Amino acid sequence: MLDNLVCPVSHVRIDRNVVRTAGLMTTGLLVAYVLTGSAWLIVPVALDYVFRARMDGPPSPMGHVARFVAGRLGIPYRAMDKAPKVFASRIGVCFAGSAAIAHFAAPAAAPWIAGTLSLFTGMESLLDFCVGCVVYTYMALPLYRARAAVMAIPLFASFEDQMLIALASGFKAARMPPGARVVTEGEAGDRMFMLVSGRVEVYHEPPGASPVVVALYEPGSFFGEMALLTGEPRVASVRALTPIVVLTLLRSDFEAMLRDHPRMREMLERAVAERVAREASMQRGAS
Ligand code: CMP
Repeated sequence: MLDNLVCPVSHVRIDRNVVRTAGLMTTGLLVAYVLTGSAWLIVPVALDYVFRARMDGPPSPMGHVARFVAGRLGIPYRAMDKAPKVFASRIGVCFAGSAAIAHFAAPAAAPWIAGTLSLFTGMESLLDFCVGCVVYTYMALPLYRARAAVMAIPLFASFEDQMLIALASGFKAARMPPGARVVTEGEAGDRMFMLVSGRVEVYHEPPGASPVVVALYEPGSFFGEMALLTGEPRVASVRALTPIVVLTLLRSDFEAMLRDHPRMREMLERAVAERVAREASMQRGAS
C-alpha cells in the first residue's frame, strides 16, 4: 500500500487534454469559492480530488464531465503517464481537504488555501504546467527509485517500508566506469557503498608486488563498512570491473541507522568477521 502512497509508478496513459479541462473546471470552482465562500463549492472539489488521487479507481465525477466536454469540443487526445497526475492529485487532496476543513474550523484561512490551489490548477489548465508533476519527477520519483534499489539489497530485506523510505533518502546514487577505484586502501573512510549494478573486486596492493584480489562483489552486496565500524583506515581497495551504479551512505547516516537498528550493527559485524576469516583462510591456503 505504501508503494502507492509514497510515489506511484505507472505505465497507464491518460488524456492530458481531459486533465487540463478538469483543471480548468476546478480552477473555476475554486475561484468561485474564494469569491462566495460557499461550502457547496469547496467540499465537492475536495471529494473529487479523492477520486482523482486513486491509482486504480474510476475517473472522478469531474473527470467524466471533462471527458464529455473535451469530446464535444473535439479537443484531440494527448497521452501522458498517469502516475505524476495521481501524485499531483494527492497534493490536491491535501490542499482542497485542508481548505474544506478550514472552511468550518478556521474560515479566514480557507480562501487562502483554496486560492493557492487555484493558482496550481490554473497553471495546469492554462499554461500546461503541472507543479505536482514537477515535484513528482524531480523529488518523489528519485526517492522511490532509491528505495526500490535499497529494497533489492539483502542486508535490508527485513526492514519495514517506513524504515526503507527513511534510509533511501540518505543514499546517493553514483555511476562509475569500468576500472574506477571506488575505495583506496589506507585512506580514511567516510561512507559505505551498496552495489546496485555491475561488478567490483576487492584487492590489496602490496608495495612492489602485484595486486591480490580477495573478493568479488555482485549487485546487492555492500562494502566500505569496515572503516565506518572500526574508525580505522580502509583495509582494502575496491575497483569497478564493469560500469557500476552504487548507492553511498555517509558516516552520519550510517551511524543514525545503527542507532535506530542495533540489529544492523550485529549483522554487519558478523559479515565483517566472515570476510576477515575468509581472507585468512585464503592466505593460509596460498602459503
Ligand atoms: P573498508 O575497509 O571500509 O573498505 C574496503 C572494503 O573492502 C572493506 O571495508 C570491506 O567492505 C571490503 N573488504 C575488505 N576486505 C575484504 C575481504 N577479505 N573480503 C571481502 N570484503 C572485504
